[in-house]
Amino acid sequence: MLSPIDIKNKKAKGEKVSMITAYDYAFAQMAEAAGVDQILVGDSLANTMLGYKSTREIGMNEMLIFVAAVCRGAPNTHVVADMPYLSDKDPQTAYDNARRFMDVGAACVKIEGTPAGVHEYLLSHDIPICAHLGLLPQTAENFKQKGRTEEEAAAIIEAAKYVDSLGCFEMVLEHIPEELGTKITGMVNAVTIGIGGGKFTDGQVLVMHDALGMHQRKLPPFATKFVDMYSLGVEGFKKYIESVQAAGK
Ligand code: KIV
Repeated sequence: MLSPIDIKNKKAKGEKVSMITAYDYAFAQMAEAAGVDQILVGDSLANTMLGYKSTREIGMNEMLIFVAAVCRGAPNTHVVADMPYLSDKDPQTAYDNARRFMDVGAACVKIEGTPAGVHEYLLSHDIPICAHLGLLPQTAENFKQKGRTEEEAAAIIEAAKYVDSLGCFEMVLEHIPEELGTKITGMVNAVTIGIGGGKFTDGQVLVMHDALGMHQRKLPPFATKFVDMYSLGVEGFKKYIESVQAAGK
């Protein structure tokens, strides 16, 4: 399993880092078999796995079940556990919840935004952090690209410099202009992982359901569908139904 230091070494060597979300045992096994560097158990599972409209609708108890399942399915892969909405509302709550993720096998936690004192507290208690800046789905009013105005871009750069200076080994940069993603990548020691942050970040992350074509919704502008698992699944189920109908005839 890659450690945070191994992941930072990849940046130093100019090697790209691959991260993909996965939420359960079976898909974690597939991601590990494919050789992905990191698996993110994102709170996007509220949407992709549970059908909720917002990631705010999932809490620690549900997240823990999925994080533990992924750790069992991919014991040799660096698993990033996403801190759900309000689970990091203050340093002590964040630490207690992060500890629960680490205890079931997560290698680090991901924190959206910069809740006061949380990064400092977790890092001082040896919990590695992947920060998350740019579009922050837990609190965003809309899903438009962030950092387009000078003011917004400056705030994202400030936040990136801040979490970098604290010692976060990695940061997700979501839905920001390519030139901002490139600029931040050049100015921080942390590994930058883009999702709609352009092609010059140190690595990329995608939501598994988008990458594997597991739904029929419109993809976000930055996502690519690499296979059409929805169609394959429907086809498989149809063949199964046909075999049931034909059995014993
Ligand atoms: O929850 C998630 O899947 C995420 C990614 C979009 C980075 O945070």
